[in-house]
Amino acid sequence: MEPKKDCFLWHYIMYDRFKRNINYLRISVTDRCNLRCVYCMPEQGVELIKHEEILSFEEITEIVRTGVELGIDKVRITGGEPLVRRGIVDLVEMLSQIGGIKDLAMTTNGVFLDKYAEPLAKAGLHRVNISLDTLDPERFREITRVGSIETVLRGIEAAKNAGLTPVKINCVIKKTPLEKDAREVAAFCKKNDLKVRFIKEMDLEDGIFSKVIGGEGGHCAVCNRLRLTANGKLKPCLFSDLEFDVRELGIKEAFLQAVGQKPRSGTENKINKFSNIGG
Ligand code: 5AD
Ligand code: SF4
Repeated sequence: MEPKKDCFLWHYIMYDRFKRNINYLRISVTDRCNLRCVYCMPEQGVELIKHEEILSFEEITEIVRTGVELGIDKVRITGGEPLVRRGIVDLVEMLSQIGGIKDLAMTTNGVFLDKYAEPLAKAGLHRVNISLDTLDPERFREITRVGSIETVLRGIEAAKNAGLTPVKINCVIKKTPLEKDAREVAAFCKKNDLKVRFIKEMDLEDGIFSKVIGGEGGHCAVCNRLRLTANGKLKPCLFSDLEFDVRELGIKEAFLQAVGQKPRSGTENKINKFSNIGG
């Protein structure tokens, strides 16, 4: 492989007040989605960020470049549904050119992966997490309101074939991984060489959150994350209203303030929805 022009030979390490090393940035590239999952969006959709407010690919790339200089080495692209953002493959390419990102992943509902897995892998995406809450086609339709499970199953296959591995499955559960849908998803994952993570349905507004079973999310003591919304707010915690506008403050200052004010643990978030913060 040719050396990358923007490769960094060194970078900073960011620690917050609670000695957590902040190295993970989750980027919501759009608040739009082709599905309407009941736990995420009302049927008629949500009020959307105006087009002119949405960060351009150049802005996102500049934010990530600065983040990497400061100590970010793990990046996840989320939404809404990231694959509905026009040109998303180009963005992946731009981010993968930065150098210094050890883990470049995407969380997607999988519906468009059949088409995009291969180009995404070619553009430098390492791996994907795909949402799948049930294997029952009718339940899938109930949960997503408009989706059909076949598209996602094809998307999962495409992701594996394109080498976007390990493919991880995000399964939202009501109470326990022992409930019927969750057990069926677990069996499917075992059979198909997929890693599964169970996420208890959460409520941002009421501050009802829980640890991701099989994943790192929701574990405040070791939380290493920052989130970037599609309109340029850096958020130090999913369950907090705190946000730092990269356009107002400048990128570096927004990072430093977000890390400096990252709360010890989450409380509640009355200004975001899962649909605009990407879980
Ligand atoms: N509770 C838990 N997880 C949620 N997600 C979306 N809304 C919620 C919620 N209310 C999950 C999706 C997806 C990830 C991005 O966030 O299932 O896997
Ligand atoms: Fe779309 Fe994901 Fe929300 Fe479902 S959970 S509506 S797929 S953003």
